[in-house]
Parts: sequence; structure tokens; C-alpha cells
Amino acid sequence: MGQKVRAAVFPVAGRGTRFLPATKASPKEMLPVVDKPLIQYAVEEAIEAGATKLVFVTGSSKRAIEDHFDTDAELEQALIASGKDDLLASIRNIVPAGVSCIYIRQGEPLGLGHAVLCAQPAVGDEPFFVHLADDLIAGHPGCLSQMADEYGRHGGSVIAVETVPRASTSSYGIVAVDRSDHDRITQIVEKPSPEEAPSNSAVVGRYLLTADIFDKLEQIGKGAGGEIQLTDGIADLLGDASVYAYSFEGERYDCGSKLGYLKAMVAYGLEHPGTGPEFRKHLKKVLSDPSTSLTGSFIALKEGDEYPED
Ligand code: UTP
Repeated sequence: MGQKVRAAVFPVAGRGTRFLPATKASPKEMLPVVDKPLIQYAVEEAIEAGATKLVFVTGSSKRAIEDHFDTDAELEQALIASGKDDLLASIRNIVPAGVSCIYIRQGEPLGLGHAVLCAQPAVGDEPFFVHLADDLIAGHPGCLSQMADEYGRHGGSVIAVETVPRASTSSYGIVAVDRSDHDRITQIVEKPSPEEAPSNSAVVGRYLLTADIFDKLEQIGKGAGGEIQLTDGIADLLGDASVYAYSFEGERYDCGSKLGYLKAMVAYGLEHPGTGPEFRKHLKKVLSDPSTSLTGSFIALKEGDEYPED
């Protein structure tokens, strides 16, 4: 029913204050989880879902993102000369043939809604994904692929949601849905208090939006936190178009927060073929020995040290 989604928008112009000082001079989207930056996981998820036009909405201190997706001929030559074929493969074709990258500058971080509006000239009037790279979602297929399938079933915009504790509603956009109509959203509110929240179903960083959102974003003013909020644009859309909540399959890690990032690092570190087995042994040792700390035995371990088997 829904047409193919070809454009993916990555708003990466936020200040990342929750992760200072790490994000003072380099973007939070470049924080690595094991060996890939968050923005690379994002791009891979979008490409898997069929996106061929990647639109990055960037701001100051974000040059590293453009560099990451560019070809680095000098580095490739050095890896060829030293016979490091595996590493060469890992930096080649991060963006495969047939996929293009477009960078648009958001002059000032006026809010997520404003960042999405900045992407309009590149997106045009087609449906598009919005992917917030700091919400890392481990899922097979990826969350955007699942949403594209959902869109294929009944059209309309699709927004990924997750159940959160009542006490946390003031950190999210919160939705109320009509369960008898494919979870069509009837209300969406940005960061409501637990008392005011219409549910505990929270919007996470994946959206599949139809292009009529742009008119709404042009019209709305500043909302919560003095920012132009995507949530407010979606709230305006509800009267004219169908917007559905989608409960994805997978595990989300809020990598914009320190704790979420550490959890992602552990989960992906345990899964990674190169680090998993040793990392698992190491974690077991750290957790079973209360005296282990940065000033104790932990720091005394040297590279190559064997951990005792359980
Ligand atoms: P966040 O709410 O996580 O804001 O934005 P932030 O500034 O990045 O991080 P904190 O809260 O200060 O730590 C959600 C997403 O929207 C993008 C961010 O880059 C992030 O991916 N964003 C936000 C923009 O691109 N522009 C904006 O003006 C605001």
C-alpha cells in the first residue's frame, strides 16, 4: 500500500550536552560501540530498509561525520601496502554504490522539528525515515525495516514506540492510541509529567513520515524547552492524516546517556566475534570479585593476560 521509502534523514546537529565533556569537540554520533560509530549503525539500518538517499542534518563540530563516510584514499593505500585486508574491507563501501549522502547544515540547533524541516529540499514530497543515531536498536530485521513493512501494510506515518516506566514519561514524547485501528495515534504529547501523560507508551528515535509533516513543521512555533519539536508537528498532523504507533522487535539502548551507552557497549562487546569470548570471561571476573576496581587488580591486568577459567 505505502510506496517505497528511499530517503533517510539523520538529524545530527544537537549539542549532546548529556555526554559532555566527550561531546565538546566531537559529535556524539561518532561515539563508537565496539568498533563502529553510532552513525554507521544508523546508516546500515537505513540501507537495510531500502534507503538510497542519506540526508544528514549537521551543525558545528560535526565534520567528523562527513569524513567518516568519505573515501580516504591515503588510508586505503596504507592498508593495501601493509596487507591489512580485513581492515581495508571494513573502511571500504561503508556507503555502497547506488547510495548517496547529502549534508545540510542546521545553522542553529533550534530543535528536532526544525532539523527535520531543514531536510525538506533533499527529501521532496516522498515518505522518508528519520533516524536518531543515539537510540541504538539491536533487532533483526532492523527497526526501520520493520517499520517499512508496517507502512507497506496500511500506509500513513509510522512511529516507533516502547513502553517506559510511568516515572520516565517526562523524558519522552508519549502517545495514546486507538487499539481497534492498528494502534493509530490519537494523541501525542512532548515530555508530559507522569500525572499528565496519556499512557506510558513512549516515542523512540525512529520515524517513517509522510511529506505532509513539512507543512506542519513550518507552522508550529517553539514548544517544550523552547525548541521546535517534531512531536508538536506530528500532533498537528493527527487531525489530517493517519499516524500509527509501532512496537518494534528488538532492544533499544539510549546511547545519548552514559548508562545506556555503557549497556550498549557490553551487549555489543559480548556479541562481537572478535571480543565476545574474552570479554565475557573478563566481565565474569570483574563482577565476581568485589575488590576489582580501577585502583586494584583490574588495572594490573596486561594485554594478553589469560583469565582463569570458571
Ligand atoms: P536530543 O534531545 O538528544 O538533544 O536530540 P541533543 O542536543 O543531541 O542531546 P542532549 O539532550 O543535549 O544530550 C535528539 C536528536 O535530534 C538531533 C540530535 O542530534 C539528536 O540526534 N537534534 C536535536 C538536531 O539535529 N538539531 C536540534 O536542534 C536538536
